[in-house]
Amino acid sequence: MSRFKAVIFDLDGVITDTAHYHYLAWKRLAESQGVHFDHAFNENLKGIDRMGSLDLILASSKRAYTAEEKLALADEKNRHYQELIATMSSADLLPGAVRALDVVRAAGLRIGLASVSKNAFTVLGRLGITDKFDYVVDAATIARGKPDPEIFLKAARELGVAAEDCLGVEDAVAGVASIKAAGMFALGIGHPFVLTQADVVITSLNDFNLESY
Ligand code: G6P
Ligand code: MG
Repeated sequence: MSRFKAVIFDLDGVITDTAHYHYLAWKRLAESQGVHFDHAFNENLKGIDRMGSLDLILASSKRAYTAEEKLALADEKNRHYQELIATMSSADLLPGAVRALDVVRAAGLRIGLASVSKNAFTVLGRLGITDKFDYVVDAATIARGKPDPEIFLKAARELGVAAEDCLGVEDAVAGVASIKAAGMFALGIGHPFVLTQADVVITSLNDFNLESY
């Protein structure tokens, strides 16, 4: 039996590799503003919400932007992104993702999704896994993005489970920080040298199980 009562998953980079689509959309936007954008910079944006990401990108621009201009640029990036995710399907699920969700379900634990992406419902629908979750946080209702614990705490509250009984699953440094700040056990997906705050790090959900932690 697991010592947890709920597992709360991040979406991008954990269940599906939308990071590449975010990369392509941000690159197109950044280059339209004369800002260099590469994979290394994209790493800094993992788990960071849309406006926060835009601010990081525009920090290396020569000009200043008004709040209105920033909103227009964020909308433009989102249009590029939505074009890219429109063709997603269950083929875009990362290896082990469905198995992990099924393992948690079979163990009788609650399942939540805590993504700061305002496109999370669309992506889940394209992947065909919406009904595998008991609760999906609506990012539009979250005031503070990761690394703030707000989103994981909201998921736990809505699932009716105490934070200390939750296992959070994340691929981003900011996301792991959010889980730890919420007082949960953090399972990192990626590399232990990067996700230094995680309690345990595995390479992918292929290695997920509930017995080891
Ligand atoms: C996730 C991704 C970020 C992205 C954020 C907001 O956290 O890891 O790269 O910026 O969601 O996504 P959105 O779809 O709302 O622009
Ligand atoms: Mg992520």
